[in-house]
Amino acid sequence: MKTIISEISDSPDRPVITVDWRDWRSPLRYPGGKQKDLPIFTPYFRSAKEYREPFLGGGSVLLHAIGSQVAQEFWANDANPLLMDFWRQVQTDAIALARLVRSLRDDYDGEQHKCDQWVAFRDRYQQKLADLPGDRLHNAARFFILNRSTASGLTESGGMTAAAYCGRFTESSIQRLENLQDRLAGVRLTLGDYRELIHAPGEDVFIFLDPPYFSAEQSRLYGRSGDLHKGFNHQQLADELRDCPHDWLMTIDDCDAIQDLYSNQWADLRPWTKPYSMTNTQGRRSKAGRELLIAKRGLLANA
Ligand SMILES: C[S@@+](CC[C@H](N)C(=O)[O-])C[C@H]1O[C@@H](n2cnc3c(N)ncnc32)[C@H](O)[C@@H]1O
Repeated sequence: MKTIISEISDSPDRPVITVDWRDWRSPLRYPGGKQKDLPIFTPYFRSAKEYREPFLGGGSVLLHAIGSQVAQEFWANDANPLLMDFWRQVQTDAIALARLVRSLRDDYDGEQHKCDQWVAFRDRYQQKLADLPGDRLHNAARFFILNRSTASGLTESGGMTAAAYCGRFTESSIQRLENLQDRLAGVRLTLGDYRELIHAPGEDVFIFLDPPYFSAEQSRLYGRSGDLHKGFNHQQLADELRDCPHDWLMTIDDCDAIQDLYSNQWADLRPWTKPYSMTNTQGRRSKAGRELLIAKRGLLANA
């Protein structure tokens, strides 16, 4: 984001708060993460008693929502168990996690391409990670390290590269993890299917959705071997949202199939263009793309 420090107050009764957004950036590199896109859609967020995010992923949007105090209660969810273990550990004790991650970082000062020295280092290091105990703290540390040191943050489906290990798994990335201490206090974190958050009753609820992209399905970005991307049922999501009792806003890639699902007078659509490309598991970059904001009828007009 261009503005690093901003002042927020959405009501005459609430004091203006100054937020340094550098402290609120996600420590994860997440394929399809929305850190750079926050200025596009967060102006459409409305204050609510409860904020819900069914597709949490790298957490960039949740952290922004907490930092800007859009609600008093927060509920975030994802269907990826390793990812949710990571976020639960951050919530419980981000400092212990950062300390463990720091202690597990080994120096590599060889050439930053696939040379013999790197392959030997990588194989030894991956074995070291594999030998860690299987409790939540160690699982979270392993998840974070792989997220930082695989190509494009693919974590479970990508290989470690020397360039990512040296350039992304840095002290400043660990610092960013540490900065999250206490930031998720009181947030309800669940592992499960998005539908629960769409239908659970609640008073004055605002939901932000960032599901797997429709046309990038072949890129298999989420879960082990892409199982949380491949076969995602967008027809079902549209059916669930049609019956959703709460206000909701979604960002998704713009294609004919998505337009057909939502342009039947029951949702508002607003196109926008993403000025940069995404990477798939083969390391190929897709074209910078047309995107859509879709919201419960009336929400975009009122913003
Ligand atoms: C586009 S990513 C979210 C990115 C996130 N907004 C960010 O900025 O990092 C989509 C997420 O949906 C999750 N997901 C896929 N299928 C799901 C399901 N049925 N229920 C809940 N989460 C699901 C994936 O694990 C992935 O983390």
